[in-house]
Amino acid sequence: MTFDRSIKIAPSILAADFANFGAECAAVEKQGADWVHVDVMDGHFVPNITFGPATCAAIRPHIAGVMDVHLMIAPADPYLEGFAKAGADILTVHAEAGPHLHRSLQMVRNLGCRAGVALNPATPASAVEYVLDRIDLICVMTVNPGFGGQSFIDSQIEKVRQLRAMIGDRPIHIEIDGGMTPETAPLMAAAGADVLVAGSAVFKGGSVTNPAPYGENIRAIRVAAEKATGVLV
Ligand code: DX5
Ligand code: ZN
Repeated sequence: MTFDRSIKIAPSILAADFANFGAECAAVEKQGADWVHVDVMDGHFVPNITFGPATCAAIRPHIAGVMDVHLMIAPADPYLEGFAKAGADILTVHAEAGPHLHRSLQMVRNLGCRAGVALNPATPASAVEYVLDRIDLICVMTVNPGFGGQSFIDSQIEKVRQLRAMIGDRPIHIEIDGGMTPETAPLMAAAGADVLVAGSAVFKGGSVTNPAPYGENIRAIRVAAEKATGVLV
């Protein structure tokens, strides 16, 4: 994985056909996805359950590029090795998931993965201030984690501005997760985000047998975001 701040679209397979993950991952990549975002939920940290390391391992061969695994689980530490072995490129833990974020991040990097920290909407930017040397990505939750299809929380725009200033020229991605559409993505791109996770806004209207809408949806989000960063005029 190389680092750059160009806009990257990461479809969340939470909005895909759960009976067809392999083909869905391949379809969104073929249609222009930069990363594939994989939402792991435990029914404890968040009020919903998805899947664990075995499913991630099964999906892995169907993703040619970056597998971005978002762990909405507490505790996370006992399971980090399992997700690393499943082939995650990026492992993101929540700052709120346990008392020892620094240790979790150390574990993630020792396992050979890029390390991410996710911040719930009520968690301030300062939660990552003293771990900036240990992280590759900050995931700003723009919905309360647990479900796809929720509305964007606009108080998070200011948080992204603060994080962008705090990061300076460190090679740390700012990822936005929740409620991303062609209308909301430019707000976050302008504030300093470079990775945009989108579930419902990518998968709507398409399927593995009719994947063209995935491509149109990805393009619409990308073009809107790039306009906001000045890449497109
Ligand atoms: C929410 C998940 C998100 C979610 C985004 O808990 O972390 O990745 O799937 O879904 P949309 O894009 O539908 O808001
Ligand atoms: Zn997510």
